[in-house]
Amino acid sequence: MPRTPAPFPAARLRRLRRTAALRELVQEHRLSAADLIWPVFVREGEGGAEPIPSMPGVARLSIDRVVDAAREAADLGIPAICLFPYTDPDRRTEDCAEAWSPDNLTNRAIRAIKAAVPELAVMTDIALDPYNANGHDGFVVNGEIVNDETVAALVKMGLAQAEAGADILGPSDMMDGRIGALRTALEDAGHRDVAILSYAAKFASGFYGPFRDAVGAGARLVGDKKTYQIDPANRDEALTCVARDLAEGADMVMVKPGMPYLDICRAVKDRFDAPTFAYQVSGEYAMLMAAAGNGWLDGDKVMVESLLSFKRAGCDGVLTYFAPRVARMLGAG
Ligand code: PBG
Repeated sequence: MPRTPAPFPAARLRRLRRTAALRELVQEHRLSAADLIWPVFVREGEGGAEPIPSMPGVARLSIDRVVDAAREAADLGIPAICLFPYTDPDRRTEDCAEAWSPDNLTNRAIRAIKAAVPELAVMTDIALDPYNANGHDGFVVNGEIVNDETVAALVKMGLAQAEAGADILGPSDMMDGRIGALRTALEDAGHRDVAILSYAAKFASGFYGPFRDAVGAGARLVGDKKTYQIDPANRDEALTCVARDLAEGADMVMVKPGMPYLDICRAVKDRFDAPTFAYQVSGEYAMLMAAAGNGWLDGDKVMVESLLSFKRAGCDGVLTYFAPRVARMLGAG
């Protein structure tokens, strides 16, 4: 609880704001590179970086370039990188078979990173949208996203990623029962120490737009994701999702998007005491970058301020496209 300050002038709250040294001393939350997970987009080819227009400063990287990024992350003190594939259009099918191919883009990237930078944690995304002809996270049968059949496919996908050497699996699909099914399958396959960071409180958000451009799922998406992602109006439901995923064996949980859902972050941390992450998603990044690009905001300032808000809201870490930029800035002191 906030203390009741002594009456003025005994308390002058500006005393501790007077100099940079005093402000440093009393700073309550600190951003560190160690709090960051860096999401990167992977594409086929070699030596290539293909800019994503709606995400200035972010590009789809060929695997050799992803390995460079992984080295950079490790050098900057960023503990983890998270991979998202841009699948070639002819490998996007209704049956999504590419999703669990041992040699798909993600799995090749995992192996390449673990071979070159073994100390870096590699996180993946588990959902069918980068492989699905219709852009959905699950199988579509007669216009419906079917749950249980999708979970079976997601388990295959997660196992292939674990086999390739992923440290953290990130189911982002919002199907029911996926965490329990994945956890059981990992145990049975001997992958006892592969962690699950569940996208537990994932809202049906407009802020994913630029990401869907980046993985090439946006233009393909038929309809919306409201039958599986949470209504932005619902807080109780989000907390129920988190409770359920932890009970099924998630090691860590995520709230997504980030900034418009800081109340959910705080509630999750207070209620569950579990490792809690926020995803500062593509649209949040795009918003800040667009304003900074127009000279309307100071990019560095709003980057740091936005990331600090997650710490204040109780998050242990943040997935953010700003990861290398903010880590460089923190490193430069
Ligand atoms: C796929 C997935 C999405 C994001 C991460 N994994 C998009 C979606 O659910 O449509 C969004 C990330 C971002 O916007 O940065 N299931």
